[in-house]
Amino acid sequence: MTNEPKNIGRREFMSAATAAGLMIIKPELVRGTAANSALRVGLLGCGHRGTAVATALAEHPNARYVALADLFPDQLEKAKQHFDELAAKKGYSGIDPKLIFKGPKAYQAIAESDQLDVIHIATPDFFHPWHLEAVLAAGKHCYCEKPTGVDVRAAKHIMELGKKAEGRLSLEIGFQIRCAPPYVEMVKRIHAGALGKIAQASTYYHATGLTYPARRPDASPLELRIRNFYWDRVLSGDIIVDQSIHVIDICNWVLKGHPLKAVGTGGRKVRQDWGNTCDHIDVILTYPDNVRVSLNHVQFGDCFWDVAERFFGAKGVSESHYSGIVGIYGDEPWSWNGGGNSISPSTNIFALGRKGGAEEAAGKLHGALDEADTEKTKAFVDSILTGKYHNQAAQGAETTLSAILARTAVYADREVTWDELLTSNQYYDPDLEGIDLTEFESS
Ligand SMILES: NC(=O)c1ccc[n+]([C@@H]2O[C@H](COP(=O)([O-])OP(=O)(O)OC[C@H]3O[C@@H](n4cnc5c(N)ncnc54)[C@H](O)[C@@H]3O)[C@@H](O)[C@H]2O)c1
Repeated sequence: MTNEPKNIGRREFMSAATAAGLMIIKPELVRGTAANSALRVGLLGCGHRGTAVATALAEHPNARYVALADLFPDQLEKAKQHFDELAAKKGYSGIDPKLIFKGPKAYQAIAESDQLDVIHIATPDFFHPWHLEAVLAAGKHCYCEKPTGVDVRAAKHIMELGKKAEGRLSLEIGFQIRCAPPYVEMVKRIHAGALGKIAQASTYYHATGLTYPARRPDASPLELRIRNFYWDRVLSGDIIVDQSIHVIDICNWVLKGHPLKAVGTGGRKVRQDWGNTCDHIDVILTYPDNVRVSLNHVQFGDCFWDVAERFFGAKGVSESHYSGIVGIYGDEPWSWNGGGNSISPSTNIFALGRKGGAEEAAGKLHGALDEADTEKTKAFVDSILTGKYHNQAAQGAETTLSAILARTAVYADREVTWDELLTSNQYYDPDLEGIDLTEFESS
């Protein structure tokens, strides 16, 4: 990626990394044989999700968080306390202050540390391609939160990074629902023909508004944007690339591919909070064989939360909710809690009640996704320990591009095709978008 956000130090770093070539992980770093040789993990981006996934990963007997990096000192302080408590439970010492990195170049310092085997990237979506590039160039395995960037160029760049890492490093992209046992079983059955020929799907992501963080009267405009990146189109990719991307990922998984075109509409009608992200969108994604998927996403209010997909086939209908039913009606009935065909549509829709969405927004979901993070992080650790490395760059980028296709159709208010999107090379240039991190150097 060129035009990196200013002063994150990538130019100097990349010249060194390029001179050395992409480092191959040293065999002694593939740990797990000795009881005291847990993978040493560093967290880059110490916010809500970082801490949630990190908790699942830290509970793995062969993984241990030993380093932290963040733009802001207060985030590091909170995270240190959290990880010191986790370490104490496992009988480890806490985070060594020498392995705490802050400021715009923190990502580079943590990537280059020779005390680490794995980096977990949980920074805002916009930064993922730059951060992932540094981590892979330094020869570290990586768990990178979704999406793979916020524009076409970023997604393509991550695909290229993935090719270079193939067979050398494990690269996990954070679409954890693909590891949730109820969803795994449902999709296995669909792929085995339980629905027959699929005609269409109806999906939605009905979220509450996010809880706006504490006001910071002294913060600069850029600090406010970064701390509140979910409200910023450029830093988050907007609600569809950041949030309902999970539903699109399930559609790509079930339908074994990506949409070929999209039409959509959306905007901001109800939300009065800061920022420029949409609060509602409607899209229709057309997959191969003219399978149409409708996706309705809202993100406002404080009293209701439900996420669901229904695939309609010649032999049956599947229904899956984050919190509630996951099952199949029709010729081959099944439900994940063993209820056979006894489930009835929509009886178990999950409404959180007022102000109940914060945990869901952080990906801490209760119900069908209970085991998703644990299974996902376990598979990642196992891939490193066994040397059967994961490489989810292409799949993650495909889903990210699918969400970008939908967003582009919404913004343009017209049909946009996959081919048109890919040739557009759409790019959010940090210079033009005012993302210059220089001001945080002395924080
Ligand atoms: N898979 C899921 O279900 C799920 C759920 C929530 C969030 N996420 C993803 O996790 C990521 C983080 O989300 P979050 O909710 O934890 O956000 P957050 O704002 O709580 O945390 C982000 C952290 O990154 C730090 N940061 C920002 N810019 C940085 C930079 N340039 N260098 C270093 N640190 C920087 C911030 O200070 C903050 O501590 C996002 O990519 C988001 O899409 C995934």
